Amino acid sequence: MGSFASVNGEIVPLHEARVPVLDNGFVFGDSVYEVLRTYNGRPFQSGRHFRRMRASADRLGIPVPATDGELLDQVRALLARADHVESYVRIVVSRGVGNSSYDFDTVVGPTVVMIQKELTPVSERQYEEGIRVCAVAVRRNHPRSLDPVIKSSNLLNNILAVREAKARGAEEAVLLNHEGHIAEGASTNVFVVNQGALRTPPLSAGILGGITREIVLELSPTLGVASREEMLTMDDLLGADEAFLSSTTREILPVRQVDESLIADGRPGPVTRKVMAAFREFALAHCD
Ligand code: PDD
Repeated sequence: MGSFASVNGEIVPLHEARVPVLDNGFVFGDSVYEVLRTYNGRPFQSGRHFRRMRASADRLGIPVPATDGELLDQVRALLARADHVESYVRIVVSRGVGNSSYDFDTVVGPTVVMIQKELTPVSERQYEEGIRVCAVAVRRNHPRSLDPVIKSSNLLNNILAVREAKARGAEEAVLLNHEGHIAEGASTNVFVVNQGALRTPPLSAGILGGITREIVLELSPTLGVASREEMLTMDDLLGADEAFLSSTTREILPVRQVDESLIADGRPGPVTRKVMAAFREFALAHCD
């Protein structure tokens, strides 16, 4: 069984899937993408992902040639072929096949690719102990250059950050924005906890509007936890009572240290644990 992919709706084993070398997604990174996951084999919050994908595609002028229902049917058809307990599904929509020029009138598209793989879960140790992050030198893309709110496959900013973080022994990068405020991780959003309240950078900091972040902010009042979207500095992170990252594939992941500096005593705090449990409970109850 293994992993599968679909190219414009045709499902094939993952390693047999092909797109033309003149596809703009390959030549220019001229595409948008989403990463969904399953819980108990069922897609989680596909509607939010599709909504964000359409917003990203609109910013690039790439049409999404399917309704949400058709996209979800394609995701389900892919999952039905796989035999993995939990899956990672990456949907990539490129402008289409062109002639490696900026003459977009020659482009025939869009190309819709769906990649299904076994989800590599975060280890229980990482959830229990938290991870080490690195405050990298590379800044998050300026919103006026390539707006991070567009979830595009132009991921060199993220790649440079991860390369630096890994070279410095960290498991995730934390990027500042052009003004020196905290933006986000290379593939996560950042939260800090102070006096029991959640604080996270606003979208205006130049970040991706993470779906996990969105759900945490929605859940926080039900947990009796105040939450504020506000600009954060590195001192806010280093001086926090607790800190965690959020993403589809990592859920709520505690931060133990930033480079050599422990966050408080380095152990996941009570608010982080409360949010972790509440998010997991929400996820298991709100799949498609
Ligand atoms: N990344 N910020 C960036 C730059 C991201 O790439 C992601 C997601 C997030 C978290 O968003 P969400 O909660 O919707 O997953 C924040 C996905 C998981 C990825 O690229 O693998």
